[in-house]
Amino acid sequence: MNALPEIRENVALDNLNTLRVPARARWFCEITGQDELLAVADWARTRRLCTLLLGGGSNLVFTGDFDGLVIAMAMRGRRWESVSGDQATLVLKAGENWHESVLYAASSGFRGIENLALIPGTVGAAPIQNIGAYGVELCDTLESVTVYDARTGDIRVLKAPGCCFGYRDSIFKHESNRYIVLELRLRLSRSRPLSLGYGELADYFSGRQEKDEPTPLEVAKAVMAIRRRKLPDPVQLPNAGSFFKNPVLGLSQWQHLKEQWPEMPGYPVGDRMKVPAAWLIDQSGWRGYRNERVGVHNRQALVLINHSGGTGRDILELAERIRKDVEQRYGITLEREPGIIESDAR
Ligand code: EPU
Repeated sequence: MNALPEIRENVALDNLNTLRVPARARWFCEITGQDELLAVADWARTRRLCTLLLGGGSNLVFTGDFDGLVIAMAMRGRRWESVSGDQATLVLKAGENWHESVLYAASSGFRGIENLALIPGTVGAAPIQNIGAYGVELCDTLESVTVYDARTGDIRVLKAPGCCFGYRDSIFKHESNRYIVLELRLRLSRSRPLSLGYGELADYFSGRQEKDEPTPLEVAKAVMAIRRRKLPDPVQLPNAGSFFKNPVLGLSQWQHLKEQWPEMPGYPVGDRMKVPAAWLIDQSGWRGYRNERVGVHNRQALVLINHSGGTGRDILELAERIRKDVEQRYGITLEREPGIIESDAR
């Protein structure tokens, strides 16, 4: 049986990326199962086409049209596995919506991913940048990732240690054309400690008695409220979340800067210090900046916004101006967070 899905030509991607920048795919298809993926990978290989796997399109910037095959991930499904005592493994297919999966786990009483509520995008995108928020990262609960390995043509299971997770980092970022994520296994528990230490989250629950511990669903709802106060909804203000990573500095650089800028916030990470990029951008005067097309969000300086008809190049140009400015002022080079999809993809 031929599992090849419908492959369309010259398809607009404007509504399939949360920055809503204009771009077209030379070829485009949607896959709902593994056999379709294998067939379509074969189709692209025989035509020597570049492929791009698209999830929610919430962490990438198109600089123009993509001259290859865009594969939209639509594999759906959730199931529980290895339930024992108060532990269980939640298996999520790559095309599931991440936030809905968080609510599903939290409302079943399972803890581990409730702090990651409202992060836009699909399950398949989550391990790429090892999504994280409010003191929790995906890798804290991730057991394994099932992938299609384009190099060998095999479907394989990568255990968490083999994924080389770091802050907004993984093997999938460095070998971006090699792996396609098919499903995740998350080890959750009804009894693991909640992570409520992050400033704003701690403030949210500060009035509560210690014995009156919130449920995971209450934590997810708190995170949703906090995010909504600060982070723009991509449907109303197109954006790709944090545009830069928070830089992690060596102690001597940190101390040197702290002497010059005593009010600079910083959080220890091992024997290094993480500085909020939002603070550096904000202090450099960019928060709320906008030109006629693109700008910087007025409540979270780490988020770039496509206000009206901006292109990917407009966004990157603005990011570059910010990067240079911060570099000149603080001697810190900010690293971009979203993936850049160049138009000369062949
Ligand atoms: N700050 C400013 N100006 C701003 C915003 C923040 O000075 O406009 C300062 C404040 O001092 C604040 C500090 O920066 O206390 C940290 O801000 P925030 O708590 O908003 O977190 P962040 O470091 O800017 C990171 C993640 C977010 C995640 C939040 C909460 C990165 C690149 N970003 O932002 O992730 O939601 O922490 O955990 O690590 C994303 O990746 O897309 C994302 C939104």
